[in-house]
Amino acid sequence: MKFKTIIEPFRIKTVEPIRHTTREEREAALRKAGYNLFQVKAEDVLIDLLTDSGTGAMSSAQWAGMMQGDESYAGARSFYRFEAAVQEITNFKHILPTHQGRAAERILFGSTLKAGDIVPSNTHFDTTRANVEYRGAEALDLVVPEGRQPDLIHPFKGNMDLGALERTLAEHDGQVPLVMLTVTNNSGGGQPVSMANIRAASEICHKHGVPIFLDACRFAENAWFIKVREDGYADKTPKEIAQEMFSYVDGATFSAKKDGIANIGGFLAMHDDNLAQRCKNMLILSEGFPTYGGLAGYDLEAIAVGLHEVLDEDYLRYRIRSVAYLGEVLTNAGVPIVQPPGGHAIYIDALAMLPHIAQSEYPAWALSLVLYLEGGIRSVEIGSMMFGQQPDGSEKPAAMELVRLAFPRRVYTQSHVDYLAEVLLYVNGIKEQIRGVRIVDAPQVLRHFSVRCEPLYGELIQS
Ligand code: F0G
Repeated sequence: MKFKTIIEPFRIKTVEPIRHTTREEREAALRKAGYNLFQVKAEDVLIDLLTDSGTGAMSSAQWAGMMQGDESYAGARSFYRFEAAVQEITNFKHILPTHQGRAAERILFGSTLKAGDIVPSNTHFDTTRANVEYRGAEALDLVVPEGRQPDLIHPFKGNMDLGALERTLAEHDGQVPLVMLTVTNNSGGGQPVSMANIRAASEICHKHGVPIFLDACRFAENAWFIKVREDGYADKTPKEIAQEMFSYVDGATFSAKKDGIANIGGFLAMHDDNLAQRCKNMLILSEGFPTYGGLAGYDLEAIAVGLHEVLDEDYLRYRIRSVAYLGEVLTNAGVPIVQPPGGHAIYIDALAMLPHIAQSEYPAWALSLVLYLEGGIRSVEIGSMMFGQQPDGSEKPAAMELVRLAFPRRVYTQSHVDYLAEVLLYVNGIKEQIRGVRIVDAPQVLRHFSVRCEPLYGELIQS
């Protein structure tokens, strides 16, 4: 191409104002929220990178599709459009719509797991892990060792450790009802899984008679990484690559809030008739009739269009580039991040950035609070606050202490990212003054959503 600048491949038709607040206002908001960013009001946030989930901007085609939503209870036209869009990419026989990804997880695990079972994955996301553990089963993370070394550059750090998978299936024969593979590996830094790894993991599972499911939330971003990093895929379209990814597995859970570019929705899909029947029974019990699954007809339309748009090459090139751009600025300034940048987010390595804060004092949580205090930026901790609490109530430090800056799809422009970089570099300059936090009050499960904390030494930043 003659010009090399990668631009946002859209223009803006509708705008939503964002609001500057003062540092004093943010300090008060933090105190009120129990030093928990999940408890801060969105209108008090300037740039919201809490999640890329359900926060994307829909296209004019998606809004137009919504106007054509068929709200019939049974057999709605919108369901068949949705089903066709999902089948075109995944080729699964049974497509069950759900209100979001975790509903698909709950139904799948509720139909397959019993206490004492083991579910290996590269890395379970928090809701996936919680849904496995809720059934009394063990959620086992078997990502390759490279995936646990933040600063190591490797093209597919989301890969499953195939040796460990083989050993687990051999040693626990009959105890593993299914294997999950998360693409991209969100909790491990948004890192992709190679096609070779998906194929090999599938072969191992099938040799042991165990089905393998993709947690396919970010399947399009994963397909893009395969295209640009794996031999033999450069000339294939993202759609062809996605089709091949799904061809190796027995089913998938999906949150349409990510690579469906919708604000809500998801699905559970599979080939197996018997399992599908059991899942449909549970779907009707809690989500809704199988042709709407807890969604409005217009939601199904938005997802059908979104699944098409997310595989567009211009979109994926811009998407992955905008995350990499921030990654480059931070790396050049010496801010430690998970390398290479993932598909949907930059993950700051808080353990490396704040070595003076012990893991028991939640360094990544503290850093995320400081980014809000100084710049009005909301990020999310993926560390010991999210994962440290064990099912028996004990505490175990997480493998990594990360602050995730997740990019909503098609929402922010390059100047937002430049501002973000400026704030991050400022905070990096005062990092020695940042102090940890302690928990004041926490619930039994998924504590990060509602935990109340306080700065250990009265202030987050010591002067
Ligand atoms: N699996 C992965 C890999 C996810 O990232 C998420 C959600 C889910 C499953 C559950 O989907 O939210 O639709 O129920 N991740 C969001 C995030 C919340 O911020 O990463 P859901």
